[in-house]
Amino acid sequence: MNLLVTGGAGFVGTAVVAGLSGSGHRVRVLDALLPAVHPQGGPQTPDGVEFVRGDVRDANVVESVLDGVDVVCHQAAMVGLGVDLDDAPDYVGCNDLGTAVLLSAMARKGVDALVLAGSMVVYGEGRYRCADHGDVAPGARRRADLDAGVFEPPCPVCGRRLEPGLVGEDARLDPRNVYAASKVAQEHLTTAWARASGGRAIVLRYHNVYGPGMPKDTPYAGVASLFRSALARGEAPRVFEDGGQRRDFVHVDDVAGANLAAVLAVGGRAEGSVEAYNVGSGDVHTVGEMATALAEAFGGPQPVVTGEYRLGDVRHITADSSRLRSALGWRSGVSFADGMRAFAKEPLRGEV
Ligand SMILES: NC(=O)c1ccc[n+]([C@@H]2O[C@H](COP(=O)([O-])OP(=O)(O)OC[C@H]3O[C@@H](n4cnc5c(N)ncnc54)[C@H](O)[C@@H]3O)[C@@H](O)[C@H]2O)c1
Repeated sequence: MNLLVTGGAGFVGTAVVAGLSGSGHRVRVLDALLPAVHPQGGPQTPDGVEFVRGDVRDANVVESVLDGVDVVCHQAAMVGLGVDLDDAPDYVGCNDLGTAVLLSAMARKGVDALVLAGSMVVYGEGRYRCADHGDVAPGARRRADLDAGVFEPPCPVCGRRLEPGLVGEDARLDPRNVYAASKVAQEHLTTAWARASGGRAIVLRYHNVYGPGMPKDTPYAGVASLFRSALARGEAPRVFEDGGQRRDFVHVDDVAGANLAAVLAVGGRAEGSVEAYNVGSGDVHTVGEMATALAEAFGGPQPVVTGEYRLGDVRHITADSSRLRSALGWRSGVSFADGMRAFAKEPLRGEV
């Protein structure tokens, strides 16, 4: 197939491009090489992959790179929690205006298959169970509670402690920060496009992706990279809250595998359909456990639990990825132990 990968120079995009081109598909990359993401320029493009530097918000460029394309794999986005609200226009511009420009150009050019890089951030606090009130959706955590070291979100009905669970794809979307809101909007735009144009789409909601080439410690970087960068400086990883935040850390090669499976499947889906899949390892770990695993594998200082917090962070978010396994035949191939052991020594993007 002829494939367009937007954001193909990024952390996930690089692995996706390698996976797709390595499977014999013709791949074209569109990436703006955002200076904040690529201060040292873009990565080496694999042999046989065409690279076009351009912005997904530029309709002329997007139309031209869609020539002859069968499936678009849309990874380009501005990522991370964001530093402050001044970032909001950039998030919405890259993620939502960019997606709208891409989708309208796809409709004009008759390109009817899309794989969208979604995110678990669309779920907000994920899934919780109260012993008395069953499944509940806690509200945003209050600053006063976080300041007092109360990190667990209480039951919204009785205030009692909740048991966190695995979030499924049909959970209510409940974004808790600007980036998350922009990822929800991408999905809604995709649904509107599919309905209006008869296109078909698969949305892959990645959980916490880690692996080689992860960007080093910018304010927008993921937690695994922040810890890994601290260790590389000879410092202890600083673990926020009490370290008990539950996450699903999924290796970037497994995310690339999910993209390949989705690209192969999407063209055969019904006209106008949009399917969403969680992409997680299914192996739940706390942020504290991840910091300890990395510190041990690196041979660096043990993590320090600081009690600090970031207001837009959620307490627990872990995936039920069984739908991806049953519908697309995807399997996670990299275990937490192996992946973290390797990640402790692998290069990060931006490291000299
Ligand atoms: N890394 C994670 O843990 C994670 C988790 C969930 C979802 N995602 C999603 O995966 C996708 C890839 O994320 P990543 O971690 O590789 O981020 P990244 O920042 O490493 O890569 C994003 C790439 O998109 C490019 N880009 C950004 N805006 C663009 C624009 N307007 N036009 C053209 N190119 C543009 C950047 O230059 C960069 O190369 C994103 O859609 C992100 O929301 C990532």
